[in-house]
Amino acid sequence: MEFLFAPMEGVTGRIYRRVHARFFPGVSRYYAPFFSPSGDHHFPLRGLTDLLPEENPGVDLVPQLLTNRAEDFIWAAASLMDRGYKEVDLNLGCPSGTVVAKRKGAGFLLLPQELDTFLEAVFSAPELRGLSLSLKTRIGFADEGEWERLLGIYRQYPLSQLIVHPRLRSDYYTGPVRPAAFALALEGSPFPVTWNGDVFSPADLETLRARYPGLDRVMLGRGLAAEPGLAARLSTGEVCSRETLHAFHEAVSEEYRSVLYGDTALCHRMKELWSYLILHFEGGEKHFKRLTKARRWEEFHLASEAIFAELPLREDAEMPGLHTYL
Ligand SMILES: Cc1cc2nc3c(=O)[nH]c(=O)nc-3n(C[C@H](O)[C@H](O)[C@H](O)COP(=O)(O)O)c2cc1C
Repeated sequence: MEFLFAPMEGVTGRIYRRVHARFFPGVSRYYAPFFSPSGDHHFPLRGLTDLLPEENPGVDLVPQLLTNRAEDFIWAAASLMDRGYKEVDLNLGCPSGTVVAKRKGAGFLLLPQELDTFLEAVFSAPELRGLSLSLKTRIGFADEGEWERLLGIYRQYPLSQLIVHPRLRSDYYTGPVRPAAFALALEGSPFPVTWNGDVFSPADLETLRARYPGLDRVMLGRGLAAEPGLAARLSTGEVCSRETLHAFHEAVSEEYRSVLYGDTALCHRMKELWSYLILHFEGGEKHFKRLTKARRWEEFHLASEAIFAELPLREDAEMPGLHTYL
């Protein structure tokens, strides 16, 4: 089974990715959080830095684009090709209200005809010849009945991979996943189909294997953010030690400290990471509150050290848990 690291805006930026890849085996590819190309065809420094190959050493990275304009996609994907990327992903799942209102991300699923036209333009663009294109999609906006039509559209194109988070936009990240929709995507698919959603433990993976015996690729998001050694544990059964987790945490915070200006930015960035990591510790609610209140890095670091010193690790991260995004 191959494991891919899902894009997570605010969490899995370049620093997190390259430190993760140094400490934890088992992830074959990392997907970058989405970049939204603008109509003026100019890469802002921040978006570009995150995707520069030299900023992602040791990481097999796939950039992701969020747009519904074919010309912007083609421009951005061609620029990424120029920087050496061989695969680019299109985001068809982001449920955020502002994104959906612009009919991007999951909002693009409301316009199947336009989506078809977009894919036609992208797949026939001479600039993108030789580039692999994948889609990361939800199964519809508000009704599972939308899925069949969307699949019919996707199947007209030579996708390198269809990554399916089998939820509707209206499900956001909670509520049960919809296994029948995934089965439909697998059935007779002309391209590889990857599962994404709610794999937090070996038991979750076993359920998937039993349900879909042919499945050979899974994308992990929140589970991997909560337990950074999860991919390795799913492959080999080996559990990551508290010492490794602690060393990983120190390395990430050190790297953030070297590039972020001031305690506020550093605490904010580390809180995002901890909002998942805390789910891997037993009884972390009180400690997490202490982290969220910290304004100075010294305070924050004392609170995170207390977590490592005092709290037992859970065998499986508890999910969904304290998470503020959900
Ligand atoms: C905080 C957060 C940020 C996310 N950012 C992105 C993103 O930039 N692009 C994307 O395609 N999905 C994004 N997702 C969705 C995840 O990639 C993934 O599809 C979702 O969390 C379900 O997988 P999981 O249950 O393994 O976490 C994000 C999810 C979360 C919780």
